Amino acid sequence: MAAAPSSAVVPALCLLLSLPFLYFFLGPRLLTPRQIAIPLSDELDDLSLFHKAIAMSASSSRRLPAAKSHLSAPPKIAFLFLTNSPLHFAPLWELFFANATPRHYNIYIHADPFAKIPPFTGVFKDRLIPSKRTQRSSATLISAARRLLATAMLHDASNTYFALISQHCIPLHSFHFLYDFLFDLSRLSPDFEFPSYIEILDNESTLWSRYNARGRNVMPPEVQFDEFRVGSQFFALTRKHALMVIKDRKLWRKFKLPCFNVESCYPEEHYFPTMLSMQDPNGCSHYTLTRVNWTGSVNGHPHTYRPPEISPRLIHRLRQSNSTYSYMFARKFSPDCLNPLLEMADSVLFKDW
Ligand SMILES: *[C@@H]1O[C@H](CO)[C@@H](O)[C@H](O)[C@H]1NC(C)=O
Ligand SMILES: *[C@@H]1O[C@H](CO)[C@@H](O)[C@H](O)[C@H]1NC(C)=O
Ligand SMILES: *[C@@H]1O[C@H](CO)[C@@H](O)[C@H](O)[C@H]1NC(C)=O
Repeated sequence: MAAAPSSAVVPALCLLLSLPFLYFFLGPRLLTPRQIAIPLSDELDDLSLFHKAIAMSASSSRRLPAAKSHLSAPPKIAFLFLTNSPLHFAPLWELFFANATPRHYNIYIHADPFAKIPPFTGVFKDRLIPSKRTQRSSATLISAARRLLATAMLHDASNTYFALISQHCIPLHSFHFLYDFLFDLSRLSPDFEFPSYIEILDNESTLWSRYNARGRNVMPPEVQFDEFRVGSQFFALTRKHALMVIKDRKLWRKFKLPCFNVESCYPEEHYFPTMLSMQDPNGCSHYTLTRVNWTGSVNGHPHTYRPPEISPRLIHRLRQSNSTYSYMFARKFSPDCLNPLLEMADSVLFKDW
């Protein structure tokens, strides 16, 4: 009879003593996150989409050697618009695409279905892909980008570059200028591959807290701290790298976990640069084509340009980069910048071809 109480007390005592340890190791995972979780049904929809795109890539690369000799279709740029609002700069993009032939590009839009957005018109008409809910500072932005990549890969085998654009982005050059830049044969590597333009940085001051945003010891062994990278989500990926992104399961398992430290949670700024720097660092430029101004940023938002700031001089400044090439896009601009930008579309923005 004496054994009965102690057999109950010992486990209870053990549990009590282990609480601090349990809290340390599991706490971050158990605390209710302020983020929407990605529903399993969405994950399954995505997996099925990715499988189709991967299967299509496998069959088209098998066909390629025979088909190459009479390959007539020119390479295309897939413009992937990721938005949760109307596309404020649609009229500017219309002028941008007016300068292009549809044989050179495709447009795809992922728009948060929970946002009230009037139907897209003009070149954007019927370009909406099946979209899911998105939320800032959450892995839903990674999901949306992967959905855009897979949809565009599956839709057209000629899509060769995949450029992610937001509703706050504007073009800084004409379509022809961008197209000639991306497909300039002198940009081919010794292996005859074009680079992906994606920012990959390893020296950001908040990297450690961002690495631990899902809790301590959550990221290893898949991602060690010295492999963790940061960079803008606004990339232009090659088809090879887009395929790597939609094939990935290993890193996604970690990056999709909700953050308990929401202030340090920007999964979309880490997933793509970390994965590509692990798998093919030499195939990436490490620079983005999208200029952003972080001077005086507030709450993790970059400087948002307002109408009085818009001038030809600003556009010329925004194009200048520390790399060997000009920036092609810029963000962020408030919606009311549309008219001043339209006024100098022909004379400045697209006057380079
Ligand atoms: C990080 O490295 C890049 C490229 O070497 C450099 O331009 C930048 O100033 C560095 N940033 C910090 C915060 O050290
Ligand atoms: C960046 O934003 C700051 C204000 O936060 C502004 O003073 C500066 O001129 C901007 N830089 C460029 C290149 O537009
Ligand atoms: C170029 O590099 C300098 C020094 O690191 C930095 O101050 C400047 O902001 C960079 N310019 C651009 C356009 O990134």
